Amino acid sequence: MGKYIVEGNNRLSGEVDIHGAKNAVLPILAAVLLCDDSVRIGNCPHLSDVEAARNILAHLGRSSHWEGSSLIVDGGAPQMCDIPEKLMREMRSSIVFLGAVISRCSTARISFPGGCELGPRPIDLHLEALEKMGVKVVEDNGFLECSCEKKLKGAVINLAFPSVGATENIMLAACRADGETVIHNGAREPEIEDLAGFLNACGADISIEPNGTIHIKGVEKLHGAEYDVIPDRIVTVTYMCCSAVTAGELLLKSVNVRHLQSVMPIFEQMGCIVKANEDTIYLQAPQRLKAVKCIQTMPYPGFPTDAQAPLMAAACVASGTSIFIENIFENRFKHASEFKRMGAEIEVQGRTAAVHGVSHLHGANVKCTDLRGGAAVLVCALAAHGTTVVSETEHILRGYEDIDRRLALLGASIKKA
Ligand code: UD1
Repeated sequence: MGKYIVEGNNRLSGEVDIHGAKNAVLPILAAVLLCDDSVRIGNCPHLSDVEAARNILAHLGRSSHWEGSSLIVDGGAPQMCDIPEKLMREMRSSIVFLGAVISRCSTARISFPGGCELGPRPIDLHLEALEKMGVKVVEDNGFLECSCEKKLKGAVINLAFPSVGATENIMLAACRADGETVIHNGAREPEIEDLAGFLNACGADISIEPNGTIHIKGVEKLHGAEYDVIPDRIVTVTYMCCSAVTAGELLLKSVNVRHLQSVMPIFEQMGCIVKANEDTIYLQAPQRLKAVKCIQTMPYPGFPTDAQAPLMAAACVASGTSIFIENIFENRFKHASEFKRMGAEIEVQGRTAAVHGVSHLHGANVKCTDLRGGAAVLVCALAAHGTTVVSETEHILRGYEDIDRRLALLGASIKKA
């Protein structure tokens, strides 16, 4: 169990490069199974979730190695069609491998991904869609036994909710299916566009209409490719929050501003000066942030649920009351009780949290409740007066490369313990 010891209330300033997006690279690593040639994935972040995906790939017969920030996955046909429980548990989002495995092997056995720290995380939409494409699904003692004819068949899928994972699973299953698959009400997150970009670079035939409808025409085979992953928009927001709570001044480089349209106005409302070019953001924070009226999480292009916790951390030290409404996940305010240990004033009722900003937080012993909640606890620790011991930091390492070193370079006092 890792820990960070943070001496807070140090102003952050300088430049930080934003690494590739975890949520983009994970489905791309699953997509690698659809082509037999080797692939080179550039701007691939060094994260524990990426290592978990590499372990799954290795089990399925695809070894990989790093060359700097590129991950090279060797070629080869799938050797196995199961994902053992131990590997599934290392990373909850490993369900995204199902569409690719069933497409290549016509059979797949994986353990049920189970619940998680954000409340129940069902996969009914994934399974209903795959069934429409000809997959037979049998649940057996916590395992999913899936099988289909030699090839999956294209289908028209109307998703009841634009689930990111379900959209990705359908896209993966559809690439080599017989005929065309159309996804209505699919997710529109930038990571979906990136997955389509990677698959098309490998020879897939995917087009996305302006209204978000996704068309996937099945092709016989996919080949290898070289592809660069998009910058991580949630990591970008997190560093903006780190700077905002310390009256800091930051230049964020290698970002994609287009992906942050719902987030940048919030920093302006909080009193920050934000200047954006195509791939950089400059942020200058005031001495004291101002509260935001109301943040409601929504599917993209709305405000991302993954940015809710870091922004709430910033609201803890803003003047006035900020309201947060979490519409995507049922149980995504666990970080609030950790913030309160540092002196934050927050009232949570169901999916709504009212944050009454305080003039300063104080150091305390706190823990990371989940990936983004953990990063948000770190944001509070940077703002707090005194020493904060942040434990269970392995959650943070799932999605943030070298965060302690990068923050230290910006002037934070942070040590691993
Ligand atoms: C992905 C992201 C996660 C982000 C989330 C929402 C990855 C690896 N993870 O998660 O960081 O917070 O999108 O932007 O990309 N749901 C169902 N049935 C299903 C599938 C989902 O009811 O079959 C519900 C979920 O319980 C949740 C909501 O839909 O309440 C959103 O889930 P989804 O969009 O699928 O998120 P993930 O793909 O799990």
